[in-house]
Amino acid sequence: MILLEARNIVKCYTAVPAVNGVTFSMEPGEVLGCLGPNGSGKSTIVRVLTGLIQPTSGEVFSGGANIQENLVAYREQLGYVPEEPDLYPFLSGWEYLELVGTLRGLPRAALKEKIGDMLELFSLSPAKYVNIGTYSKGMRQRILLIAALLHDPALLILDEPLSGLDVTSALITKNLIKSLGERGKAVFYCSHVLEVVEKVCTRVMILRQGKVLAYAASAEIQERAGQSSLEDSFVHLVDERDAVRTAQDIIYVMEAA
Ligand SMILES: Nc1ncnc2c1ncn2[C@@H]1O[C@H](COP(=O)(O)OP(=O)(O)OP(=O)(O)O)[C@@H](O)[C@H]1O
Ligand SMILES: [Mg+2]
Repeated sequence: MILLEARNIVKCYTAVPAVNGVTFSMEPGEVLGCLGPNGSGKSTIVRVLTGLIQPTSGEVFSGGANIQENLVAYREQLGYVPEEPDLYPFLSGWEYLELVGTLRGLPRAALKEKIGDMLELFSLSPAKYVNIGTYSKGMRQRILLIAALLHDPALLILDEPLSGLDVTSALITKNLIKSLGERGKAVFYCSHVLEVVEKVCTRVMILRQGKVLAYAASAEIQERAGQSSLEDSFVHLVDERDAVRTAQDIIYVMEAA
């Protein structure tokens, strides 16, 4: 069963396509890692997959139907962690989650219990009645994660979910992503943290300038690239600049009289 399918997605904001012919499909249990340098089109794909923007061409299918035909039904089974934690600053964490859960149609008593348990598990209980505007970046990120999980969605789309998380929260989230896959969820996971992608993803898609350079299991990508880690394969495939050399050049420019 295919839960989500992207067919030849192209998105142009300007004359240069931000996403240029991306095709993939996801079954239940798949954790698909989406990698690529800054500006390579990851978040644009995410916005197309969530239905927030329409592709210039190409289509996204879920359950055999184009998601744009019934976005409301599609979003009922979707949990989404956006790149930017845009939350209501004058709501407390508790109030925000209650709002999200209510909009999701969760029964009141069960929702309250779930929110309480989630806040506890994400170490947010002490701040649950405090306005989100005062939360640190990592605290806001944890609220976003809870909000995406509350309704037990079949499909999760996570754009840099580890962004700003402390060591323990990042470790929990890493294990959580893996477990979601094992529980039969489909997870689309954008990240720059290659070590985590290598460990939790069933398949990996590497983008450069909106195009797919590689789309396979991490081990297969490494084998084809003739490298011993996903990080080395990434650098090899994306043809990034030599990091050590560039750092030295920056110091040279900084110290120039
Ligand atoms: N709303 C927009 N209007 C115009 N151009 C945009 C817009 N959003 C993104 N772009 C451009 O599209 C390209 C892809 O951006 P995108 O945000 O998808 O990259 P990304 O892979 O998520 O990068 P990062 O790793 O920095 O999050 C970039 O060149 C960016 O400047
Ligand atoms: Mg992005």
